[in-house]
Formats: sequence, C-alpha cells, structure tokens
Amino acid sequence: MRQTLEELQKKAADEIEAASSREEFLALRTRYLGRKGFLTDVLRKLKDVPPEEKPLLGKLSNDIKKTISERIDRAIEHLDSEGKSDILLKETIDVTLPGRRTKYGKIHPVTRVMGEICEIFSILGFSIAEGPEVELDYYNFEALNIPPDHPARDMHDTFYVTDNIVLRTHTSPVQIRTMEKQDPPVRIISPGKVYRPDSDISHTPMFHQVEGLLVDKGITFGDLKGVLTYFLRHVFGKETVLRFRPSYFPFTEPSAEVDIRCVMCGGAGCRVCGQGGWIEILGSGMVDPEVFKVVGYDPEEYSGFAFGLGVERIAMLKYGISDIRLFFEGDLRFLEQF
Ligand code: FA5
Ligand code: MG
Repeated sequence: MRQTLEELQKKAADEIEAASSREEFLALRTRYLGRKGFLTDVLRKLKDVPPEEKPLLGKLSNDIKKTISERIDRAIEHLDSEGKSDILLKETIDVTLPGRRTKYGKIHPVTRVMGEICEIFSILGFSIAEGPEVELDYYNFEALNIPPDHPARDMHDTFYVTDNIVLRTHTSPVQIRTMEKQDPPVRIISPGKVYRPDSDISHTPMFHQVEGLLVDKGITFGDLKGVLTYFLRHVFGKETVLRFRPSYFPFTEPSAEVDIRCVMCGGAGCRVCGQGGWIEILGSGMVDPEVFKVVGYDPEEYSGFAFGLGVERIAMLKYGISDIRLFFEGDLRFLEQF
C-alpha cells in the first residue's frame, strides 16, 4: 500500500512537470484528486489494511493529496500571471495619442436665421403668435379672401388632407386666427413651417415663413416700407440693394413683393436667380378691407399691413447658398460650415 502511494506520488509529480496548459492541469487534478481519481481509489482501500498501519498510511495519503493539490494550484497561478504580463507587454498604451473628442451639435442655419428674424421684430415691439400646420381650408384660403374656384388658389399648389383640410401653404392663416381672438391694435409675427408641392433650386416642399401683421389707426404703406426696410438692412447690412415690386395677393391691396439683389451673381443673372438678377424673399401689402370684415374689424377705423417672409431664401442670400435643397439634405459636411 505504501509502495502504491509512493508510486502514485512520483507519477503525479512527473505528469505535473510535463503539463503546460491550464486545461492539462485541470485534467490532472480530476484524474488524481477527483471523486473517481487514483488517490481516492487508494484511500478507499485503506479500510482493508491492518489497524496498526492505518494511522501512518492515512497520514501519508493525506500528505500526498495535499502536495499534489498545491503543486497544481501553484502551476495554474504561475500560468495566469505569465499570461497577464504577456498581455501587458503586448498592449502598450501610447499616451501621446490625441484623445477622441465628442462632437458638438450646431444650430441649423435655418433655425439660426429664424431666431435672428424673430429677435429683430421683437426689438420693434412685435410679439409671437402661432398656428397649426394642418389647417382648415377656411383659414388658409377663404377667410383670406380666396373663395373656392378663385384663380388665386393656383398661386399655391396645395397638399390636401381632406376636402376642407390642407397643409397650410403659408403662415397667413395665423393673421385671421389672431384677429379673431383679439381687438386692434395688433402687432405680431408668426414663424413656422409651410408646405407646397414644389421642388427646384429655390423651392422645397416644406419651408419656413415668418408672417407679420400690424393693425392700428392710421397705418400707411409708408409704415410697411419703413418696417421692412429697417428689418432687411439689419439682416443683410446697410449696403443691401432691395426693391419693392408691385404684386398681387387677394388679402392685401395694394401689394408688393420684395426682392434682394442676387448675391451669387451680383445681379448679372445666374442659375440661382433664374437669370433675373433678383431673388424674391417676401410678399406684403396693406390688409384688404374684405379681410377686416371677416374678423369683425372696422376698415373705416383701422388699417394695417402684413407680410410673409421666406426664411430659407433669406438664409440662402445671407450665406451664399446656391441650392435651397441643401438645407434639408442633412449632409454634415454642409451643416458643419455654419
Ligand atoms: C405668400 O405666401 C403670402 N402669404 C405672403 C404674404 C403675406 C403676402 C402677407 C401679403 C401679406 P408667396 O407665395 O410669394 O406669398 O411666398 C412668400 C415667400 O415665401 C416668397 O417670397 C419666397 O421667399 C418664399 N417661398 C415661396 N415658395 C417657396 C418654396 N417652395 N420654397 C422656399 N421658399 C418659398
Ligand atoms: Mg411670391
């Protein structure tokens, strides 16, 4: 028995010596010390030895068990620490590499110009009014003196939701909603999204307008020209060349559109201004008495002017953008320039 034990110890020592991987060590532990292992087998036979030999053999087998177990533990520990130092050697950190920066978001150029416009008008004493983008035909057309079958409906191609609900084609319905709710004097602007089935170099199907409405006693076309000129010189600078061009809107009379000298070609004519040398940025006019009647204002007592600015057009001219559609493509290379 003693001999068997000693041979076992020797064999285990040799095999531990020869093993080199974690798996091999773990297999050895099972083979010698596991429930069906060699050593357990020998210990089981301990009950058959003469009683006087038992204590000694018992101690010997326990010692062997302990020794084998410790050697395997130590071998595995050694392997692990070797592995770690290998990793540390291979994976060096270059502390001179620049860190990864987080990207800052930026305000979209259209949002920024919108903010600028609102700020200038708020200095002039205008407050902000809002209205829905999904609008009743009544507010988008009828109350603005554009009855069904009126040829002016052709001026705005329209996205219809139902027969009498549209995506608003301009911010002018907010004029009506505001005057319905409040008595004059009125001095509001209304920024927001509008929709038309339009797409080319200076038109997109969704774009932004800022509506303006000022109603009081004794307001004249001179006030309209004064306010808009002040505004445009603030946005574009004192040297800006602009023109008021007679125009037509069913809800204003007289009406004018304002054009700015094309910044892309300086007025010589190019693709952006359609060879005309000018870019239209707003429509305006004196509020038509018919509109006042609809909201219950007395046209004999009050007069006023209104305007509707194209925000993307202003942003195009301000930043020299040659295609309005660039604003909505979400291309970071474009947006990061602002
Ligand atoms: C109107 O929408 C009138 N409601 C403006 C108005 C308000 C007149 C109050 C009188 C009184 P118009 O359709 O011209 O007018 O559009 C106004 C501006 O929006 C244009 O001058 C132009 O700058 C811009 N615009 C028009 N269509 C588009 C489009 N598809 N994409 C980008 N901008 C556009
Ligand atoms: Mg127009």
